[in-house]
Amino acid sequence: MARVVVTGGSGFVGSHLVEQLLARGDEVTVFDTHAPDPPCGQARYVAGSVTDPGSLRQAITRDTDIVFHLAAVVGVDRYLARPLDVIDINFLGTRNVLDLIRESGSKLVLASTSEVFGKNPAVPWPEDGDRVLGPTTADRWAYSSAKALAEHLTLAFVRQHGLEATIVRYFNVFGPRQRPAYVLSRSLHRALNGRPMVVYDEGRQTRCFTYVDDAVAGTLLAADSPRAVGEVFNIGSMVETTVRETVELIAELTGAAATVAVDAGRRLGPAYQDLERRIPDTTKASRLLGWSCRTSLRDGLQLTIEWARANPWWLALPDSGASAAHDERCPVAQPGSTMTP
Ligand SMILES: NC(=O)c1ccc[n+]([C@@H]2O[C@H](COP(=O)([O-])OP(=O)(O)OC[C@H]3O[C@@H](n4cnc5c(N)ncnc54)[C@H](O)[C@@H]3O)[C@@H](O)[C@H]2O)c1
Repeated sequence: MARVVVTGGSGFVGSHLVEQLLARGDEVTVFDTHAPDPPCGQARYVAGSVTDPGSLRQAITRDTDIVFHLAAVVGVDRYLARPLDVIDINFLGTRNVLDLIRESGSKLVLASTSEVFGKNPAVPWPEDGDRVLGPTTADRWAYSSAKALAEHLTLAFVRQHGLEATIVRYFNVFGPRQRPAYVLSRSLHRALNGRPMVVYDEGRQTRCFTYVDDAVAGTLLAADSPRAVGEVFNIGSMVETTVRETVELIAELTGAAATVAVDAGRRLGPAYQDLERRIPDTTKASRLLGWSCRTSLRDGLQLTIEWARANPWWLALPDSGASAAHDERCPVAQPGSTMTP
């Protein structure tokens, strides 16, 4: 049994991770600005923000064996609405977590993102692939940069202070409980509510959708493997699917028919830009951790649809996905910085 802290443990990936940790008998503390909803069984909950070292200190103590640091501002809608929080929470919050971990001697797993690669056209991306970003005037890139700085900080603590830390970069994770603000969860939410799914630019962008159980499995393997210390791992499916194919699969599985085609340039203005392709190279995770994605998009969607049909509260969420528990404002994306998340 390990004593574990999960920052952001009330969120989508965090809540699935907490379930797995509890199932294997770990003693879990969730640190988040809002309580888990539904409550996660045996987990202790500490309320607070990672920007406040005082409240973090209530969760991360000398007894803590490992910290999974997932707390972050996530989602294009939120990057646009809260650009300052993106930097403060994703970067300074990580600095606070690292400072405390240095005191407590715990291990760290940092949740990072495929967004650090930006719009690098040379897919698939190995872990040491280049970062290719847009201008600082587009808020979207603040997320990529804040997360990349969080990675730099973590690796600097490993090199300079001997911290035991590992970084996992997730690629388009989906599954039960994800708020309907992302390309897959939003389309599914609309389909199950009998509303037309929206497809931009004929849906020719591609993504590699990763079922949440696979993302959690990769995270746990990275936490447990001594070979993972000081390393970065891409954790994502390598199966590339167009948004059009994804929406068609959702239509087939839910019985929904209608889609609305939108010309993104006309709707969102000439500054609109989207990532055409986002594909991980996961050879390293396979070689060092023995990890691979096991759930197909079809199977993951089926599991998510079954869950959604049994959870009307999720179906009743507004389209942008802000729930009562997740009370941040989520305005629709603005011209110039919208992309398929
Ligand atoms: N879901 C994905 O596809 C995906 C892809 C790449 C990376 N990630 C990373 O995985 C992690 C989890 O993402 P998610 O999809 O579960 O997002 P989420 O928004 O569902 O969860 C994030 C959690 O962090 C909490 N949080 C936000 N600000 C906080 C603060 N100041 N202090 C403490 N807690 C705070 C939120 O309340 C929320 O519960 C994030 O670090 C994200 O960057 C997710």
